[in-house]
Amino acid sequence: MAEKAKIAVLISGAGTNMAALTYASRIGDCPYDIVLVASNDPNAAGLTLAAAEGIPTFALPHRGMNRESHDAAMEAAVMEASADYIVLAGYMRILSDGFVSRWAGRMLNIHPSLLPKYKGLDTHARAIAAGDSHGGTSVHMVTPELDAGEVLAQVKVPIVPGDTPDSLAERVKLAEHQLYPRAVADYVCRWRDPAALLARVRALALALPETDERTSHGSPGFRVGGDKSGKYFAYFADQHHGTPHIALLARTGSMDELLHLVESQPEAYFKPAYYGASGWVGIILNRADVDWDDVAHWLQRSWRSAAPRRLTRMLDIADSF
Ligand code: GAR
Repeated sequence: MAEKAKIAVLISGAGTNMAALTYASRIGDCPYDIVLVASNDPNAAGLTLAAAEGIPTFALPHRGMNRESHDAAMEAAVMEASADYIVLAGYMRILSDGFVSRWAGRMLNIHPSLLPKYKGLDTHARAIAAGDSHGGTSVHMVTPELDAGEVLAQVKVPIVPGDTPDSLAERVKLAEHQLYPRAVADYVCRWRDPAALLARVRALALALPETDERTSHGSPGFRVGGDKSGKYFAYFADQHHGTPHIALLARTGSMDELLHLVESQPEAYFKPAYYGASGWVGIILNRADVDWDDVAHWLQRSWRSAAPRRLTRMLDIADSF
């Protein structure tokens, strides 16, 4: 089992979502641990529970501090706890852009509405007033724009006759307590989930000109040049031939280049069975710190070496300027 992801949870209030995350982390082979619970309110009830559960806590009132310095202090506590991810659970503070961008891709939030509906506050009252049949909750990535990052998971909760914002909020929380631990677990496992990795490779490969996808020897392969005369420029290999790697196979320039890559960066590259003999390199995708710009670059390069002259000629002309 891979090492568990370390998570810092930020709260402002009751912390029932933090509790749900904590208890989920104690069950079976949950892929994350809670390493810190931090709050902008020293009286947040969730802090008492976290402390009783033996989780390190940190509290700093925001009153009298500007946003940047308060965020910096919270971030310092998160770094001190060696957290890999920040999970916001009822943290009722808008975060500064700098803080958010430093944690891009590593900060999640739960919001009590079916996003993109009802960003911001009073979500339940607004859903009831609009006559919606359902309220609900969304787990999303945190980006500088409030409640606007990619939605990772949602649950709908029916609005029943006589519902008030409070009664609806209470039922939505029951749904949140199921949703958030699952969404966080899925998210921290993304980097070793073959379906998620293939989706990412596919999006990059098929964004290149005149490409299509075709299975080759049971693996997804990506071709350039049209239906009949298309040539493969990349393959997606999921733990082939006894390797532990989920990998992108791409063309290198030469056997020397391939061997040099494998020797100098064995954590990132390997020589794949069969394809390696013709100079294809395996780029390991199931590791936490894959550089996806680099993966995109490999795909472009490999595409270029397989693409027909009529396609590359245009690029050569563009490059010569
Ligand atoms: C949750 O319902 C959460 O979705 C909401 O605050 C509540 C916190 O409850 N978050 C927001 O409104 C964020 N804009 P909890 O402290 O019991 O987990």
